[in-house]
Amino acid sequence: MAHILGISGSLRAGSYNSALLRAAQGLMPAGSTLDIGTIRGIPLYDGDVEAAEGLPPAVVTLKEAIAAADALLIVTPEYNNSMPGVFKNAIDWLTRPSSDIARVFGGRPVAIIGASPGGFGTILSQNAWLPVLRTLGMEPWFGGRLMVSRAGTVFDAQGALIDDKVRGQLEQFMAGFVAHLDR
Ligand code: FNR
Repeated sequence: MAHILGISGSLRAGSYNSALLRAAQGLMPAGSTLDIGTIRGIPLYDGDVEAAEGLPPAVVTLKEAIAAADALLIVTPEYNNSMPGVFKNAIDWLTRPSSDIARVFGGRPVAIIGASPGGFGTILSQNAWLPVLRTLGMEPWFGGRLMVSRAGTVFDAQGALIDDKVRGQLEQFMAGFVAHLDR
């Protein structure tokens, strides 16, 4: 059964995207697992730091977690109709050195979901990831889509998913992705 690594692209304690990732973890099909990786602790990319010190520990940890997983789940906020810089910065670090890209990302299945308080549910951010995933040689799964709009009404103050319709959509999305991985 599939072992997926999920990453939320938000550092906020009250992040809707992190809440969505935690909710997905609780709705996984029997036998499959969803571990949660974090971008916390990853500094701004600086080629001089990389040359002098190598990869920061938080980058190495997340890289190896991806390499050990069957697939990646990107849970992306949307900033200015694209992916947040903090999330893209983290992925940029994870692609260093470039000789490691094939091992960490190459051919690895990936799915994208996201949540926004607005009405378009991260559709443009999800699209913005596609050329990045192509560059990394990943295999995006297009068998389902999940764009959570009006996130302020979908999660309660503690970050629990309280919308039954979205819960059903999330469960269906994860079941579809896992079924794809199991094939
Ligand atoms: C936003 N937000 C936002 N939302 C959206 O649907 N489309 C957008 O283009 C933007 N742009 C944007 C830019 C910046 C700089 C910020 C800080 C925010 C709102 C965003 O969806 C909201 O802050 C979410 O709560 C962010 O995700 P987390 O942190 O809740 O996971």
